[in-house]
Amino acid sequence: MKLSVSARAVVSGAVATAMLLAGGAVADAASTPPRPAAAPDIPLAGVKAHLSQLQSIATANGGNRAHGRPGYKASIDHIKAKLDAAGYTTTVQQFTASGRTGYNLIADWPGGDANQVVMAGSHLDSVSSGPGINDNGSGSAAVLETALAVSRAQYKPAKHLRFAWWGAEELGLVGSRHYVNRLATGDRSRIGAYLNFDMIGSPNPGYFVYDDDPAIEKTFKEYFSGLGVPTEIETEGDGRSDHAPFKSAGVPVGGLFTGASRTKTAAQAAKWGGTAGRAFDRCYHSSCDTTANIDDTALDRNSDAVAYAVWELSE
Ligand code: TRP
Ligand code: CA
Ligand code: ZN
Repeated sequence: MKLSVSARAVVSGAVATAMLLAGGAVADAASTPPRPAAAPDIPLAGVKAHLSQLQSIATANGGNRAHGRPGYKASIDHIKAKLDAAGYTTTVQQFTASGRTGYNLIADWPGGDANQVVMAGSHLDSVSSGPGINDNGSGSAAVLETALAVSRAQYKPAKHLRFAWWGAEELGLVGSRHYVNRLATGDRSRIGAYLNFDMIGSPNPGYFVYDDDPAIEKTFKEYFSGLGVPTEIETEGDGRSDHAPFKSAGVPVGGLFTGASRTKTAAQAAKWGGTAGRAFDRCYHSSCDTTANIDDTALDRNSDAVAYAVWELSE
């Protein structure tokens, strides 16, 4: 039987019980199977505070947070301190690229099944021409705020959670490839999902979902359809971010993206708003990729989607 929302609201407890006994499919707390622990709403203000801090770090270090430059190491130190204070077990992994030392930051949330690891990651380095706030302070800040939300909730997922911030992505996925290459074969096969977030606050945004592992893709699409926001499959640069080394190693991958230098079409502007005929991010890899180069709505929706997927895939 079908009831409209208003009809449901007037069904009394006794009548609802009678319908349940008769096999009616009425949603009721007592009859509903245990629901997944609900993912929190990630506070946009928290994500934006991280972006301001990354901007300040760039400003204090010659205007960038690039591999091998002081602004990169300062970014790593800053994020590591927040995770340590929140109860994470953090590891800084060093590597060399173009004759300079690079760093990945790995943060493990204690507990969960070590044989079933869910990872979420973002590259933390910028290009040398700018502060890299959309590319990729946005992903880095959303992943950080999600990790902090896990701690605030004292979330105890069935699976083990691991968060990562990659170095030297802009030199060709160097940090993430280093991490994957150094994993023992057994550890690689324990990673059941790698979720990648690279550019999720573009100022003229699109809502793109990676077309990779079907279960991960479905989880993201489910989140956006719940918001009533249409998505498209990401096609601007398959293999152009840190999920690629994981995918090559056989790890199921997925992720989100709001667009880089490609132009938004009229059809895309009609469904998402913004400006047709203009790039998703006119400041991609430029000095103007500052805190002004962020669409708050896109950043908020995508940050909430990060948390949703982390919660849904780890229970
Ligand atoms: N950091 C990526 C790069 O500079 C940004 C990027 C471009 C991207 N196209 C993408 C990220 C597609 C994810 C998917 O290449
Ligand atoms: Ca939010
Ligand atoms: Zn980039």
